Amino acid sequence: MAGPLRVAVLISGRGSNLQALIDAFGPKVADSPVKIALVLSNRPDAPGLERAAKAGLKTEIVDHKAFQSREDFDVAMDREIRAAGAEFVALAGFMRLLTPQFVTAWKDKLVNIHPALLPAFPGLNTHKRALEAGVRFHGATVHFVRHETDSGPIIAQAAVPVLSGDDESTLAARVLQAEHRLYPLALRLIAEDKVRVEDERTIVSGAPSADGALFNPAPS
Ligand code: GAR
Repeated sequence: MAGPLRVAVLISGRGSNLQALIDAFGPKVADSPVKIALVLSNRPDAPGLERAAKAGLKTEIVDHKAFQSREDFDVAMDREIRAAGAEFVALAGFMRLLTPQFVTAWKDKLVNIHPALLPAFPGLNTHKRALEAGVRFHGATVHFVRHETDSGPIIAQAAVPVLSGDDESTLAARVLQAEHRLYPLALRLIAEDKVRVEDERTIVSGAPSADGALFNPAPS
């Protein structure tokens, strides 16, 4: 049997999604289907780097400010990812746009978590925009990365209700909790070979689907 999927996790900041991946697949987890081969940050001061070091994971910093062009920066990242033996890349709060060359090189081996139910609210400030739009459900999406920002075949989504009285921070916290469950779930499905891309949509096999309907407001 093939060994665990060797994943590089790319971060830019806090790293709470990285922490969820460490808790699910870190060195302390026996028989993990995923091995975190590298945690790479484009920011030397990203707090997530400490989480990685604490877990005993290999870390690298590729500071985007040290590069003349996006291309050069992505080439340097690519080199570190491959040097660490990673065969798959997971963006976890990585806040740099990737070049078409990088995205093409890692096609179907590069996933992102986005704090909205795509294709609604790509880009930044998703929680504020969801509140402004008045949607009753918001959430998070894990998807394969394509050239357009926050686009690509969707692997898994988690929906959370928007509650009356929510502000950006209460809604963000609810979504983040869901993200922390969603990302390990999606990566596990990939590592177990249960996800394939066909005609730019994913087919997930061997995993239970959600059933029923969610209502918000709920019927009384
Ligand atoms: C998460 O909410 C993630 O979905 C989002 O940044 C946050 C990172 O938090 N990612 C994006 O907006 C990507 N465009 P974390 O560093 O605590 O995981």
